[in-house]
Amino acid sequence: MIHIDEISACKSDYMELLILGDEQEEMIMKYLDRGRLFVLKDDDKVCAVCVVTDEGDFTLELKNIAVSEKVQRHGFGRALISFTESKFAGAFKRLIVGTGDSPLTVPFYEKCGFRKCGVIKNFFIDNYDHPIIEAGVQLCDMICFEKELSEDHGTDREGIAEIR
Ligand SMILES: CC(C)(COP(=O)(O)OP(=O)(O)OC[C@H]1O[C@@H](n2cnc3c(N)ncnc32)[C@H](O)[C@@H]1OP(=O)(O)O)[C@@H](O)C(=O)NCCC(=O)NCCS
Repeated sequence: MIHIDEISACKSDYMELLILGDEQEEMIMKYLDRGRLFVLKDDDKVCAVCVVTDEGDFTLELKNIAVSEKVQRHGFGRALISFTESKFAGAFKRLIVGTGDSPLTVPFYEKCGFRKCGVIKNFFIDNYDHPIIEAGVQLCDMICFEKELSEDHGTDREGIAEIR
């Protein structure tokens, strides 16, 4: 059974997973404090994390999402997105996320119903202290995605059902 909980203290304890989603710790520390951290556990084993921030104008940003390598492609990433939509649909109009132009992430966001809404040129070159390589290619531009939050998702859910 999977369960998603919010973590308010000692958020850095989840750095090992957060680094998977954003590989420079200094960048993570820019949003971890003000962000809300959610942790997905499967039978009490930590499998995935995400961090969202309030960017104003009813916009929620997914700053980080990461699923433990051994359990990727089991639906946990989608479950965290779905949970976020449900939890925040009442208070926010839009969920946005930025990612590299990578075959490892772009199809995931498209499958989760996001649509491309912009590009930030050279983001990964200008903001990271080392080249970020994904699927053998250096990331350069940030691709921005957005998804409207519909109140049909309802509000806070304590947990979500078994997904496998
Ligand atoms: C990207 C990531 C969060 C996806 O989470 P996940 O649990 O592996 O993905 P899910 O199993 O929930 O997949 C949801 C859908 O996206 C698709 N998908 C996921 N990764 C994909 C990939 N690399 N290529 C194509 N499709 C993919 C799945 O097939 C699934 O579609 P389906 O339901 O139609 O079969 C996860 O792979 C991860 O943590 N990667 C490393 C960290 C990272 O890059 N984070 C994002 C930073 S922007």
